[in-house]
Amino acid sequence: MRTSESAAPNNPWPAVRFVVNGEARIVSIPPMKRLLDVLREDLQLTGTKEGCGEGECGSCSVRLSGELVNSCLVPVLQADGAVIQTVEGLALNGKLHPLQEAFLQRGGAQCGICTPGMLMAAAHLLDHCPNPDLAQIREGIAGNLCRCTGFIRIFESVAAATSAQSAGSATTLTTEQSHHAR
Ligand code: FES
Ligand code: FES
Repeated sequence: MRTSESAAPNNPWPAVRFVVNGEARIVSIPPMKRLLDVLREDLQLTGTKEGCGEGECGSCSVRLSGELVNSCLVPVLQADGAVIQTVEGLALNGKLHPLQEAFLQRGGAQCGICTPGMLMAAAHLLDHCPNPDLAQIREGIAGNLCRCTGFIRIFESVAAATSAQSAGSATTLTTEQSHHAR
């Protein structure tokens, strides 16, 4: 596992250590800086998007040690020692996650702002509920808002990905990523 250090020499801030998408990272930054901003500004993981900045829209969703969180509400200090997965960590070895394939094929990738959060929420859902029905899909991404185009294609995309999940693809990805994160 590679370790990257983004702290500048003589940086006065305490080091915060975590694993992001299988890579150990150390950052020395103000401890109350939002995880969203650390991901985007300090680690250049700009796939995670900011919508509301207030914990309402889910655009900034990432997984933090197995929990789906709004990264705009998480001070980076809270991530010390955590294992983080962002949307960049869904694809593995150049192969898109079944959800990403489904969003592309079914038109679930609409405006681009909400999509990464939708994908993370859906991945979290499928890891816990491999064959969700429509009600479970709705509930699973209830914390993620589309404010422009509508949810139908997003629901259809998640439903389409369940067959691949049932075949074991997404579970395998998650297991491998967990392995990388050790
Ligand atoms: S930007 Fe974090 S919930 Fe909206
Ligand atoms: S807000 Fe992204 S598709 Fe509507």
